[in-house]
Parts: sequence; structure tokens; C-alpha cells
Amino acid sequence: MDAARAGRALTKPGVITVVAIENGEVLGFAQMLSDGEIQAFLSLVVVAAEARGRGVGKTLVEEASARSGAQRVDLLSLDKSQHFYCSFAHRMFSGYRIYPGHAATNPL
Ligand SMILES: CC(C)(COP(=O)(O)OP(=O)(O)OC[C@H]1O[C@@H](n2cnc3c(N)ncnc32)[C@H](O)[C@@H]1OP(=O)(O)O)[C@@H](O)C(=O)NCCC(=O)NCCS
Repeated sequence: MDAARAGRALTKPGVITVVAIENGEVLGFAQMLSDGEIQAFLSLVVVAAEARGRGVGKTLVEEASARSGAQRVDLLSLDKSQHFYCSFAHRMFSGYRIYPGHAATNPL
């Protein structure tokens, strides 16, 4: 982990990062990218294993969304996280993560 690079990625213009803290301990965080008007993308949301199931993840996503100024939020989901995202008002689409510049026959 490159801490300096992570710090820059979490604080660049257009990036909203919210952190949940309880008694001085970080419970989780979310990173969202936004055009400030219409569209946001939820890049990351993670809650510490011992803090899950208490509404922290939902609060992080709702807070980041409220600060983003956007009307809707797209994201990619792991299979195991689908129940979490289905707890929000939502529509489902097919998702891709592409790697421009890399050979299509050589997936990363
Ligand atoms: C996904 C994750 C962020 C959820 O955070 P959380 O704090 O446990 O979620 P919350 O307590 O806010 O739950 C919000 C809602 O999702 C539901 N939910 C969350 N995890 C669930 C699960 N594993 N199974 C079923 N429902 C789940 C809750 O029941 C709740 O529903 P409600 O609003 O109707 O009561 C957390 O489990 C996590 O960090 N997982 C590992 C990292 C990860 O997978 N990140 C997403 C990558 S795509």
C-alpha cells in the first residue's frame, strides 16, 4: 500500500471521501467521484468487520451522496455485497471495468 498515493486519490478535486469514526477508531470510509450535478460513482466503501450490520455502510454512502451534489450513483458490486446495495432504491445494469491500453486477450 502506497499511503501517499492513497491519500492523494482520496482528496483530489471531485473526490468526496467520508470517514466514520467512533471513540477515535476508524469504522469505515467511502470514496465517491462526482460531476457535482448529475452523476456520481461510488469507488469504495469498506466497513471494519467488527462494525458491520450497524448501519455504518449505509450512512457513509448516504453522506457521500448528499455531499456529492449528484442525483444518482453508479457502482460496481462484488457478488457478496449485492444485498447491501439492494437495500437502496436502485436499478441494476451490467458492469465492466476496462483497462484501456492493455491487450484485450490478456485480462488483468
Ligand atoms: C458491504 C459493507 C460496506 C456493508 O456495510 P455495513 O455497515 O455492514 O452495512 P449496513 O449495516 O449499513 O447495512 C445497510 C443495509 O444493507 C443490508 N446488508 C448489509 N450487508 C448485508 C449482508 N451481508 N447480507 C444481507 N444484507 C446486508 C443491511 O441489512 C441493511 O439493510 P436495511 O437498510 O434494510 O436495514 C460491508 O459489509 C463491507 O465493508 N464489506 C467488505 C467490503 C466490500 O464488500 N465493499 C463493497 C465492495 S463492492
